[in-house]
Amino acid sequence: MPEPSGDASVVALVPAAGRGVRLGADAPKAFVAVGGVPMVRLAVDGLLASGAVDRIVVMVPPEFVAGAVALLPPSDSVDVVVGGAERTDSVRAGIAAAPNASYYLVHDAARALTPPALIARVAAELRAGHPAVVPALPVVDTIKSVDAEGVVTGTPERARLRAIQTPQGFAADLLRAAYAADLVATDDAALVERLGARVRTISGDPLAFKITTPLDLRLANTLLGHPAGLS
Ligand code: C5P
Repeated sequence: MPEPSGDASVVALVPAAGRGVRLGADAPKAFVAVGGVPMVRLAVDGLLASGAVDRIVVMVPPEFVAGAVALLPPSDSVDVVVGGAERTDSVRAGIAAAPNASYYLVHDAARALTPPALIARVAAELRAGHPAVVPALPVVDTIKSVDAEGVVTGTPERARLRAIQTPQGFAADLLRAAYAADLVATDDAALVERLGARVRTISGDPLAFKITTPLDLRLANTLLGHPAGLS
C-alpha cells in the first residue's frame, strides 16, 4: 500500500451499512461470509491489494462498528465509521470522515470479488484527469420501463445501456459538491451527473457483480471454491 501522498491522496469509501433484506440473511449483507470471509473484509482486502488506495473508510450500522474493527485488517489506513439509513447517507458519512482527500473511490462492500486490477484502473483514470469514472458492462437482458401498475412504458435501445459497477471514482471536489445537495440516488455517479459533470465509463468486470440475492451468494461461494456454493 503506498504512503499517503498528501494532497493527491486516494480515499476509498466502502458503504457497508445496508441491511441486506434481499439476501435474506440474519446479518447485514456486508457481514455475511463468502468463501468463509465476511464480504466487507474481502472488499477491503481487494482495495488494499490494488495498491491504488491511500486510505479506506468503511461505513457500517452503528451496532457493528466494534465487530467491523475486529474483522478488518489492523491498519492505520483503515477506519470504520457509522453509516446512515440510505446508501447516500452512508457515503456522506464517509466523505465527512475523510474531508481532505483528492480523489474518492466509492466501492460497495457487496462487490466483494472485484478484481484489484479494476480498482487500479479506475484510480489511474482519475489520476489521468478524468473527474468521474465508472466501470460499465453491456446489459444482456432487454430493459423496459414500467408504470406503477407494471405496464410497459418504454424499451430503451439495449445497445446504448450499461450496467454500472463500483468502484466509482471521483475528483474529491466534484463528489463533495454532488453530496452538498440533500438528494438520494442508487449510485454516486447519478448525483454527479445532476451537476452536469462528464462521467466516463471504462470496461467493467463480471467478477465485480453485486452480491444481492441468495443466488448471487451461491455463485460467489462457488467462484471461491467454497462448499456453500455447491449445495
Ligand atoms: O442496497 P444496495 O445493494 O444498493 O447496497 C449497496 C451497498 O451500499 C452495500 O454494500 C450496502 O451495505 C451499502 N449500503 C450502505 N448504507 C445503506 C444502504 C446500503 O452502506 N443505508
